[in-house]
Amino acid sequence: MVESPFKPNILKGKVALITGGGSGIGFEISTQFGNHGASVAVMGRRRQVLDDAVAVLRSKGIQAIGLEGDVRKQEDAARALETTVKHFGKLDILVNGAAGNFLISPEDLSPNGFRTVMEIDSIGTYTMCHEALKYLKATAGIGPSTGGLILNISATLHYTAAWYQIHVSAAKAAVDSITRSLALEWGTDYNIRVNGIAPGPIGGTPGLRKLVPDEVLAKRREQMPLYRVGERWDIAMAALYLASDAGKYVNGHTMIVDGGLWLSRPRH
Ligand code: HXC
Repeated sequence: MVESPFKPNILKGKVALITGGGSGIGFEISTQFGNHGASVAVMGRRRQVLDDAVAVLRSKGIQAIGLEGDVRKQEDAARALETTVKHFGKLDILVNGAAGNFLISPEDLSPNGFRTVMEIDSIGTYTMCHEALKYLKATAGIGPSTGGLILNISATLHYTAAWYQIHVSAAKAAVDSITRSLALEWGTDYNIRVNGIAPGPIGGTPGLRKLVPDEVLAKRREQMPLYRVGERWDIAMAALYLASDAGKYVNGHTMIVDGGLWLSRPRH
């Protein structure tokens, strides 16, 4: 991991709430947002994970709080947002990083399993956006530095089709659609930008450990553009770009950060 190329004050004074912010990609976004001046509220379902994450963030001098909650529950979403604003005074950035995932064929996946992932990824993202609007509206001025931002963590699975991922592919397709619709409506009405990031395989994440066994990864590396999996850092840097003034004219876009993997075919 290399040092951040961004100035340490690019998010100075900003307040961010990150769902799924206690582990994996979400935790790296929390850390890098904090390193660049933001105060961070980390939301997740597991108390211990949150406590550990907040302790690490605070040890780096970052203003951080942990909020226990499930994005599937509207009352949890409302409470987490209210607590964030009570604690830090406002909300500038919402990152929807919470996601559910497991590998399974459609033959074996129950409709309830399908629904569960849709509820976490798609409806959870919408619920957080919906509940956050009144706070993001309040911070939205006319200038580029004053607008609110929503960042939805997506995937590339649904650009083509991915084995054993029918539920996640459908859920992330909906997330990308939500990104575009809200970018149009809330960008126009409230100067709120809504963007996404679609990571490829990222090392050190629950997603990679669960979804790509080591032996498969070793075989596939040969066929990967750039010959490597990404780092959580790569996703956090994309998030910083989109959250900073450098991204002030980017709206409704889901940035692919996968080293070009989704384009790749075996060489013949
Ligand atoms: C088959 C499963 C299952 C599994 C749950 N279900 N896990 N089916 N295989 N491994 C089914 C259940 O049978 C049930 O349906 C329904 O889903 C609800 O199950 P619950 O256990 O009650 O759900 P819950 O406790 O709410 O847990 C949901 C969860 C979630 C989706 C399993 O806890 C989870 O995935 N947590 C891990 C989070 C994670 O790994 N995040 C990183 C995501 S990475 P029935 O019909 O039996 O009632 C990512 C990257 C994508 O998103 C792109 C990668 C390239």
